[in-house]
Amino acid sequence: MNLAVQLAPKHHRGLLLANPVMTASGTFGYGTEYGHVFDIQRLGAIVCKGTTLEPREGNPQPRVAETACGLLNSIGLQNIGVDALIREKAPIWASWRVPVIVNIAGETIDDYAKVASKLEGVAGVSAIEVNISCPNLKAGGAEFGAEPKSAASVVAAVKAATSLPVLVKLTPNTSDIVKVAVAVAEAGADAVSLINTLKGMAIDIAGRRPLLGNITGGLSGPAIKPVALYRVYEVAGAVAIPVIGCGGITTANDAIEFIMAGASAIQVGTANLTNPRAPLEVLEGIEEFLRKEGISSLAELIGAARR
Ligand SMILES: Cc1cc2nc3c(=O)[nH]c(=O)nc-3n(C[C@H](O)[C@H](O)[C@H](O)COP(=O)(O)O)c2cc1C
Repeated sequence: MNLAVQLAPKHHRGLLLANPVMTASGTFGYGTEYGHVFDIQRLGAIVCKGTTLEPREGNPQPRVAETACGLLNSIGLQNIGVDALIREKAPIWASWRVPVIVNIAGETIDDYAKVASKLEGVAGVSAIEVNISCPNLKAGGAEFGAEPKSAASVVAAVKAATSLPVLVKLTPNTSDIVKVAVAVAEAGADAVSLINTLKGMAIDIAGRRPLLGNITGGLSGPAIKPVALYRVYEVAGAVAIPVIGCGGITTANDAIEFIMAGASAIQVGTANLTNPRAPLEVLEGIEEFLRKEGISSLAELIGAARR
């Protein structure tokens, strides 16, 4: 059975995954925390926590709230910073078979480029995933990913700063995600991953105030799956680069829906928080589905619902 997928076909080195199952940024730490739970080397790729130029403490508590079939979070990119990541995490990743992709974030275009250039030539880092859901400080705090132009500027700057494959993580908090996807593809993105969380909030009625310390948060989990699936379906029909599906994937059947919608690979996110074995179970379920259907190659399923 051939589950391998090439996520950067236009890149000189490429980004070949043994299978399409990845972990979503911010929901699987640095991967190192999960070695005792299952054999993480079986995964297609691990995407680490969003990483910035300087370490960040994140937003005020409370930072998570459960919702019907979902989760609101406002972690605020708490992370150890790129220098500590290079010093402490990358040397561990360098001995792994599973590729690790570093998710990066910034408040200015220059921040993104600096983080990317620091990762250049670091053993253990296979690719960069650019999170364009961050507020653009120079443009009044709107997300970089909300507009095709600002999204493309970030991608062009990161591409100029790195020789690694560059995936771009799209936000659903925009009026037209397809236009943003097309713009980042034109700016040189090797693949797009989508979706990031949907902006939302909850109110503590006893305290008569917003529940999250940051007032708003990002909604994830099964509640967003139909929205994410539709975005993947739309974007996969508009760009020629690989699409990575993400949003509420909890089971193998969820993953197969995204693959049939046109995703070449998928990311498991919030599901990890309730079941840390979820990515492995999704992988085994995909294998089981292919066996039952008598399919020898995953490629046969990619975009099957579009034909
Ligand atoms: C607690 C938490 C932290 C997250 N941190 C990041 C992050 O640092 N960078 C990023 O690009 N996405 C981050 N995300 C978004 C996820 O990677 C994913 O895109 C989103 O949650 C939708 O997928 P899911 O429904 O499977 O969780 C985070 C999500 C959660 C729940």
